[in-house]
Amino acid sequence: MRTADTLAGWGALVLLALAGCKLPGKPKAGPEVLRPEEVLGFEMLYGANCAGCHGAHGQNGGAMNLANPEYQALIDDASMRDVIAKGEKRTLMPAFAQENGGQLTDRQIDALVAGIRASWRKENVFGGETPPPYKATHAGDVAKGKVVYAIACARCHGVSAQEPGNAGSIQDGSFLALINGQMLRTTVIAGRPDIGEPDWRGHIPGRAMTDDEVTDVSAWLMAQRPQNPGQPYPNVNAAEKPATPVNH
Ligand code: HEC
Ligand code: HEC
Repeated sequence: MRTADTLAGWGALVLLALAGCKLPGKPKAGPEVLRPEEVLGFEMLYGANCAGCHGAHGQNGGAMNLANPEYQALIDDASMRDVIAKGEKRTLMPAFAQENGGQLTDRQIDALVAGIRASWRKENVFGGETPPPYKATHAGDVAKGKVVYAIACARCHGVSAQEPGNAGSIQDGSFLALINGQMLRTTVIAGRPDIGEPDWRGHIPGRAMTDDEVTDVSAWLMAQRPQNPGQPYPNVNAAEKPATPVNH
């Protein structure tokens, strides 16, 4: 037993001595050490920064199906770069550019855009048809959007948050609290083949949705967004007042 203890003790000492040159705090020299801001390989950049939300292969994640070729055809390089650098307001998409508090350099963001394009972009994905533009060109009409919802969404997503339909509610307050109008627009136009959401041609039986319809339905859904997401009561102040006793 003693011998084993002594051996273990010596072993630890030898290991410490060997590790001495790599103790934390000691500056590492040599070209073999890649600093995080020097990584330019797409797989590594995407895996470390994006896969957690957008899925290992650009699909089946909580956020946008980046590997969808229709999505790749819809969004231009400048818009994609902008989203990655600045994030998406009112969603969980972080800003990655260093000047916006993120950790990626301009070169790394360029490498991501180039890698995403090289991996997932395809030619002629719309079969000659033209989808509505990536960005809305005007504000939507909320009242008209309600009617569009009934003809384009209700058969799969249900008529109300209480009746969610087969594809689940998109009127649910907690869901709406996590998305913005662009997310709805992108999802409706390019679809999400990874989870079964059709593209703009597959919502209304017999015809494609128009640009105005996409704009209006997104505006109506955004207008359903709760003022205080996560609060069970619409009026927080009222909810904070002590309940009035009724029986005495
Ligand atoms: C914490 C989760 C999260 C991480 C990490 C993340 N994203 Fe996002 N991303 C989102 C969400 C949420 C949205 C907005 C809603 C949506 O489109 O699903 C979004 C939106 C986007 C969009 C725009 C989608 C549209 O509507 O056109 C792009 C492009 C994008 N992300 C790329 C990336 C890239 C590239 C990375 C890695 C550098 C990344 N994201 C990391 C959550 C994330
Ligand atoms: C033919 C059926 C169908 C129609 C019509 C339809 N959807 Fe969907 N949609 C789906 C399915 C299936 C999913 C995936 C549901 C899931 O993952 O639980 C989905 C998902 C979504 C998502 C993403 C939800 C998420 O979890 O990220 C959004 C946003 C969405 N639909 C919006 C719409 C809007 C807006 C309309 C009307 C313009 C619409 N959908 C019409 C079938 C449909």
